[in-house]
Amino acid sequence: MWEKKPVLLIVLATCAILVGTIVTMVLPFAWVNTEADRIEGVTPYTALQQEGRDVYIREGCNNCHSQTVRPLVSDVLRYGEYSKSGEFVYDRPFLWGSKRTGPDLARLGGKYPDAWHYKHMDSPRSMVPKTNMPDYEWLRDYPLDPQMIQRKMETLDFPYTPEEIKALEDKNEMDAIVAYMQKLGSDIPWRDTTETTIVGELVNPYTETDQATISSWGSIYLENCAACHGEQMEGEIGPELIGEDYDDEILFELIYSGITDGGMPGFSSLGTDKVWKLTNFIRNYKADGDQ
Ligand code: HEC
Ligand code: HEC
Repeated sequence: MWEKKPVLLIVLATCAILVGTIVTMVLPFAWVNTEADRIEGVTPYTALQQEGRDVYIREGCNNCHSQTVRPLVSDVLRYGEYSKSGEFVYDRPFLWGSKRTGPDLARLGGKYPDAWHYKHMDSPRSMVPKTNMPDYEWLRDYPLDPQMIQRKMETLDFPYTPEEIKALEDKNEMDAIVAYMQKLGSDIPWRDTTETTIVGELVNPYTETDQATISSWGSIYLENCAACHGEQMEGEIGPELIGEDYDDEILFELIYSGITDGGMPGFSSLGTDKVWKLTNFIRNYKADGDQ
């Protein structure tokens, strides 16, 4: 019957839409960026990081990478603590994105050592053979322009000292983007507070396994570890793994949970079985000398 009374219909439809708009847009806008939303420890980007952020925008990294961990179990397990609005107060504009051709980068800071990033940016395929991320080694050829960052500082109202600006003189765009990536999501100390819980008892299920079977697990090592520890465990970005007398359980936990602040990511995502296989492969590799 309402559809026969156009004026009433318009008024009712407008009200319905208005309620929706207020609940989903106006109220959240009033809530974000209030004082209560501020998080202590969240700092503006440094001059170098800000330059890196602008390279990130220019290169459209956000077409393949999002920068927000949603409060969903699957997101949190994969990437870490979910993003808080207060963490983005210095993001102008924000880069949350909606496309994940590559992984989310909101919790990237501190996940890898700098050396990993330089190598990965030079040639992603040298570390992840099937990735479709382009090579960016040419960023090394472009030095930063301190005059430009001076002007950005005035616009964004970030406090840089003359020394900080001068320090950009011998840096290039690659240094800047690596500095930016190491900052992402690391303003809150979430790594220290998240603990990976290992389900079940820590008992090596492969103590009786023969040498040939253990050697066949080398592919798990090559896929996940060789980029940092070298194909022969000789060490590169991470330390050499041969010649250490690791205890089964300690080695398992180390691989499973990673080393916080050490640049060694955890591999709980592989599942306990594969981590046990790696544990045995590494212990055995050392015991056997050269394979
Ligand atoms: C065509 C899509 C694409 C573009 C563009 C792209 N990436 Fe990626 N990126 C990927 C894919 C796929 C992966 C996962 C495999 C890998 O590590 O290479 C990835 C992985 C990464 C990782 C590793 C993340 C992790 O947690 O392991 C970083 C860091 C990264 N990209 C940074 C960048 C930056 C910075 C740019 C822009 C200069 C960029 N990417 C542009 C597709 C892309
Ligand atoms: C992103 C690079 C990176 C990847 C990938 C990586 N590691 Fe590491 N790993 C490191 C770094 C860096 C250290 C040193 C951390 C420290 O001591 O603070 C380390 C340390 C270790 C150690 C302890 C070494 C010692 O004696 O001090 C072991 C064992 C280890 N990694 C095994 C593995 C295994 C197995 C894999 C594959 C599942 C792997 N790592 C993948 C970077 C990496």
